[in-house]
Amino acid sequence: MKPVSALATSLALLASSASSASAFRVFDNTAYTNTSIGYGSSNINWIPNYVCSPLLAGGSLPSEAVWKATVQQWITYPGYPLVLDCEQLYFNDNNAATADTTLLWLSTLQTWAAQVLPSGSVVGWYGLVGNTNAGLYDHYRTLIANHTPTAFFPSAYTFTDSFATWKSSLTAVVATAHAINSSVPIVPYTWPQYHGNYSFFPVDLWNQQLNYLASQSATLAGFIVWGGKNHAVCGDACQATAGQQPWLNATRSFLSTLYGVYNGLPTLSGGQLFSGL
Ligand SMILES: *[C@@H]1O[C@H](CO)[C@@H](O)[C@H](O)[C@H]1NC(C)=O
Ligand SMILES: *[C@@H]1O[C@H](CO)[C@@H](O)[C@H](O)[C@H]1NC(C)=O
Ligand SMILES: *[C@@H]1O[C@H](CO)[C@@H](O)[C@H](O)[C@H]1NC(C)=O
Ligand SMILES: *[C@@H]1O[C@H](CO)[C@@H](O)[C@H](O)[C@H]1NC(C)=O
Repeated sequence: MKPVSALATSLALLASSASSASAFRVFDNTAYTNTSIGYGSSNINWIPNYVCSPLLAGGSLPSEAVWKATVQQWITYPGYPLVLDCEQLYFNDNNAATADTTLLWLSTLQTWAAQVLPSGSVVGWYGLVGNTNAGLYDHYRTLIANHTPTAFFPSAYTFTDSFATWKSSLTAVVATAHAINSSVPIVPYTWPQYHGNYSFFPVDLWNQQLNYLASQSATLAGFIVWGGKNHAVCGDACQATAGQQPWLNATRSFLSTLYGVYNGLPTLSGGQLFSGL
């Protein structure tokens, strides 16, 4: 059974939250062994770059049938947003023909994806907004016009132990998103591991990030916690012990306060609590 009414509410709130700040969703896009976040976090669907990239390797789009089968295989939670991660399809090449082809491919892939999803599903692109050249904002606007509802899903990954550096990268990508279209919700991707060497970074820095993201609820529709699905950056030993690392307790404590999970009043709305059998 799908919680249909809760889902419809969730989607409507995600789609409208940029302007109204009515809900702040924290999505669990982790896949560490035997570890899920819970505590009011939301579901999300995602097709990783390591799946998309080989499908584009021939220098052409996959067939419609292959792409739709791929989407269906990766839709774990129908009705929740779908994030597509195809990192060779970025608007970072000013050559006009290249940019036009990228737009055509992105549009085609998201259209085909939407055709096998429940109507009204949010579909958007990981990392694209942070990799769009200033001269190609109109290309992204055309992509946005091709599918509604959508959202920006920029990277807010961590490269150093500096909170200030992390924050200024996030500020920059939010400014780009606003310049492209200030009414499209922004939902950044976080990850409790360093992007460079994949070790779990200090929990104090993670806590600073969580609290900062929540403080930006007027601008952000929420954020996503990623990790664990790609063995190249988290092997078996990492997968199996990830849930024992302090980031998980910190995240649950944060969510417990944010959504008032135990008795307290929520700081922000948007928690998705278990609502029955
Ligand atoms: C991983 O990278 C971070 C950021 O550069 C650094 O601070 C940390 O010491 C590195 N950890 C390991 C185990 O190499
Ligand atoms: C921004 O996106 C919204 C939602 O898709 C759309 O209705 C609006 O026309 C877009 N604005 C511009 C300037 O493209
Ligand atoms: C994960 O859970 C399964 C089922 O309870 C168990 O058999 C397995 O050993 C667990 N794996 C780890 C790494 O804890
Ligand atoms: C879990 O996090 C809370 C809040 O930061 C902290 O008070 C508590 O000591 C942590 N528990 C463990 C086992 O680390």
